[in-house]
Amino acid sequence: MIKGVIFDLDGVITDTAKFHYIAWKNLASELGIEIDEKFNETLKGIPRLDSLIKILEYGGVRQKYSDTDIDSLADKKNEEYKLLLEELSKDDILPGIEEFIDELRSNNIKIGLASVSKNAPTILKKLELIEKIDFIADPSKVAKGKPAPDIFIEAARGIGLEIENTVGIEDAESGVKAMRACNMRSVGIGVEADLTLKGTSELSLEVISMLDK
Ligand code: G6P
Ligand code: MG
Repeated sequence: MIKGVIFDLDGVITDTAKFHYIAWKNLASELGIEIDEKFNETLKGIPRLDSLIKILEYGGVRQKYSDTDIDSLADKKNEEYKLLLEELSKDDILPGIEEFIDELRSNNIKIGLASVSKNAPTILKKLELIEKIDFIADPSKVAKGKPAPDIFIEAARGIGLEIENTVGIEDAESGVKAMRACNMRSVGIGVEADLTLKGTSELSLEVISMLDK
């Protein structure tokens, strides 16, 4: 039985995935690497440093950069990303998400967040949703980012539920893999999962309850 729902953030609650793409594309371009939307799909859900390493490997220049260089390049990307986030407001919540969260809350279903983004609390504050989330898993406290299951396991622990009583919602293949790795039932937004939906406006308690049957 579903007693808790665990959300990914970027691409599920709000479309910050497009800001990550802009900031990575600009940084990559400065390094002489061109990335496109298809390659960007492989970055979704992947922690900041791992994303940068993937870009450098894609450009065939990973060996040119030391760990310190990588840290400062990742900081640079994050500074640009944070500038893009400044405009974010309640209007940027994806369609149906707030209504769905309210429906879950009024049915006593716990709400967790399993994003590997270190910017998650800032984003949720800007969207005015932070008060409605019972637990935000801290990515700095888990050993491995997606596609490892750690962040989903931590989110389930934080809302006090067994994995079998939870369902996770993701827009990225890495996130669906992470859920499958811990046997969490999955809803995919535009990505194949146990239950696949086209968009966030299709989410409702009735729809996700299909996973209980
Ligand atoms: C999410 C996004 C990724 C991003 C990661 C880290 O998983 O889908 O694109 O790289 O968070 O985000 P951060 O805000 O910490 O750089
Ligand atoms: Mg996502």
